[in-house]
Amino acid sequence: MPHPQSKGRLRALGVATAGIAALYMGLTAYDKPESLVRALMIPTMRLLPAETGCNLALLACKYRLYPASNYEDNVNLRTKFFGCDISNPIGLAAGFDRNGEAVHGLNDLGFGFIEIGSVTPLAQKGSPRSRIFRLSADRAIINRNSIDSDGYQAVAERLRRLRQTDGFNAVVGVNLERNYSSNTPVIDYMAGVKTFGPVADYLVINYSNAKDQGYNANSKNQLIELLEAVNIERAQLKPIKYVPILLKLSPDMTLDEMKDVAAVIDMSTCKVDGLIVSNATMTRDNVSTSKKSQEEGALSGEPLRQRSTTMIAQMYQLINNSVPIIGVGGISSGQDAYEKIEAGASYLQIYTAFVFDGPDLVDRIKSELSDCITEMGYENVQEAIGSNYKRYLPA
Ligand SMILES: Cc1cc2nc3c(=O)[nH]c(=O)nc-3n(C[C@H](O)[C@H](O)[C@H](O)COP(=O)(O)O)c2cc1C
Repeated sequence: MPHPQSKGRLRALGVATAGIAALYMGLTAYDKPESLVRALMIPTMRLLPAETGCNLALLACKYRLYPASNYEDNVNLRTKFFGCDISNPIGLAAGFDRNGEAVHGLNDLGFGFIEIGSVTPLAQKGSPRSRIFRLSADRAIINRNSIDSDGYQAVAERLRRLRQTDGFNAVVGVNLERNYSSNTPVIDYMAGVKTFGPVADYLVINYSNAKDQGYNANSKNQLIELLEAVNIERAQLKPIKYVPILLKLSPDMTLDEMKDVAAVIDMSTCKVDGLIVSNATMTRDNVSTSKKSQEEGALSGEPLRQRSTTMIAQMYQLINNSVPIIGVGGISSGQDAYEKIEAGASYLQIYTAFVFDGPDLVDRIKSELSDCITEMGYENVQEAIGSNYKRYLPA
């Protein structure tokens, strides 16, 4: 007799397969596939349990069922991203394509860069379902311990093959994690640098879950140990290439913890090339009360927006603009994106709103952001970075 959990998985797989099959049949029968995808895909996903909806969206990207965007990015969005030229600063945040299966399809949608992962050293299954919850009224998601990973080796091999594909030009970062069961986080991250350094455009040390996982990485000494170790590992790659390393932070850090991060990354032995602010929050601020909102896990989307913007401004001030910040948390419009840039972000990422609104969101944010930059009298996005960060600092 199948275990109830396996039954649930089978049912979810059945729904997803039926959805894809229906979509595929519709696509082949319909003379305007773009309209069909828009008309069917997003409403169908909203009817499905949150994780099944996310998986269906990922499958659609993997098989390139979404029509490629033909939106041409305005020149005022063009920028440099850790040595790569990108046509816009809007990236996909970690967690959507954990195993790097859908990078081509995601690149079709017009992202300036794509972050895959989090990837763990060994393959692992996250905690049992349900573990992702959609809070529709709040345009938010709660997710807990949902990292299903194929492991470093399998994902690195996938990325290596992608890089050899003709016409592949996406900028791809890899977000590194430790296994839930690991007691050796430093060694895990070092292995990540070694494995992905040669194939990634940048690496992310996902430092934001450290507290939940019993590794008290928010202590300054542990952060020093971690960053020194990954820097040593990176130096070994030097004959091959210099890979930028970014540190992703939790929005739940205290001001003292933020100051510690600023002090540590200022040390020459603990160099990072950028910060990602922020991951999802364990708080429940700005969320309407419902049974789902009390589910354990990290909250992302609209309720996180202001918290992450405030933290961007705080970090921008603390690090004195020494390294760029990728701003992420609750962005669902060009105005939201612009506010994060004014607060000090050089680049942006989206996740939750992309799940709610679908692929058209990428072009909409780019177009609105481009307009905001022009309206504010700036020539390009770089000029606006940190231009009003004081406005976002806590009173
Ligand atoms: C379902 C889900 C899974 C996520 N998985 C990861 C992950 O594996 N690694 C990571 O660094 N961040 C992960 N995140 C956090 C996002 O990358 C992002 O930092 C956060 O959701 C805030 O952005 P948003 O409000 O636009 O979603 C996840 C978020 C969600 C909603």
